[in-house]
Amino acid sequence: MGQPNRTPHPAVDVSPTRRAFYIGFINGAMGLIGLALAVPAAIYLLFPPKLRKGQEWVETADLSKIPAGTPTEIFFERTNVDGWKITNVKATAWVVKGPYNEVVAFTPQCTHLGCAYHWDDPSHTFMCPCHNSVFSIDGKVLGGPAPRPLDRYMTKIQGGRLDIGPPEPHA
Ligand code: FES
Repeated sequence: MGQPNRTPHPAVDVSPTRRAFYIGFINGAMGLIGLALAVPAAIYLLFPPKLRKGQEWVETADLSKIPAGTPTEIFFERTNVDGWKITNVKATAWVVKGPYNEVVAFTPQCTHLGCAYHWDDPSHTFMCPCHNSVFSIDGKVLGGPAPRPLDRYMTKIQGGRLDIGPPEPHA
């Protein structure tokens, strides 16, 4: 009896050259996948999102156009940066200019539950319509449930122009 004919099946007949090509191709593909995962991970580790969070300074109003002694609501657009997410949002501030061009810019939310308050000229106070908190022109609480004075933005004056920064941290 002779040996059975053991001719390999054509589907599994892989020559050494073709095998080397497949191995090289698979290694190359795995390397690319590894690189695609490693680059974003490295960016995340080198630049943590919390370091890229915040608000930029914004050029807002010409200070000469804001009347002294009367709170004026100004409107501007600012850029918020939160990790990789950058959004432009419309914002407002209540600006109070003193006789020597000194400026305070209040954030527009009531410190009770965040409603928009307004300046009431006859009573010379800021009034919140939601639960009747009342604030003086310098932001102090005069009545109602507000737990603290009005919050303020950081400000600087450059060349007669008011620049508004992020809200000041609470004391
Ligand atoms: S939100 Fe202003 S008083 Fe409540």
